[in-house]
Amino acid sequence: MSSKAVKKKVPAKKAVTKSVKKTAIKRTPAKTEMYASLVLQLRSLLKGEYDFIANTANFSALIYNALPDVNWAGFYILHDDVLVLGPFQGKPACVRIPMGKGVCGFAAKQCETVIVPNVHEFPGHIACDSASNSEIVIPLFDGERVLGVFDVDSPTLKRFDDQDAEGLNELVTVLVAHEEGLDE
Ligand code: SME
Repeated sequence: MSSKAVKKKVPAKKAVTKSVKKTAIKRTPAKTEMYASLVLQLRSLLKGEYDFIANTANFSALIYNALPDVNWAGFYILHDDVLVLGPFQGKPACVRIPMGKGVCGFAAKQCETVIVPNVHEFPGHIACDSASNSEIVIPLFDGERVLGVFDVDSPTLKRFDDQDAEGLNELVTVLVAHEEGLDE
């Protein structure tokens, strides 16, 4: 996993996102097992298939169905400084998010995973599903370049922790490495 992917800066004025420190992750055996199983399932789904839409669609479905207490999971892909909605599971969502806007644009601009314990306290949060109360956004990297983000929403406040950040980062890293043919 890219250590860059889990580095986190908290906005200077108001700490509405949660800092992700790789060294201080409190892990539960159940989550460790779940993410290890998801990596295996993902590798199996990706095997021999290199269509980006098919693989990101299956990735979204895998996460949406496996993670408890989640109401949206999907991709925004960066096109000319705008994040454009990609394959997802959940209610219809806003299609275009400018770089820097909302949680997704913030994560993409900062090149960091962002955990938002309470989306209603995040300045500029874009509400696609009124049921969402917390959120995690993981940027996808091609080296230093951001390709897009993977976004997961939950109706529960403080749903996502550092272990989710670590597990989801590992999963998107497996996906991107596969798309780039680096796992052959
Ligand atoms: N809440 C996101 C927008 C995407 S939806 O959650 C699917 C944001 O603030 O960027």
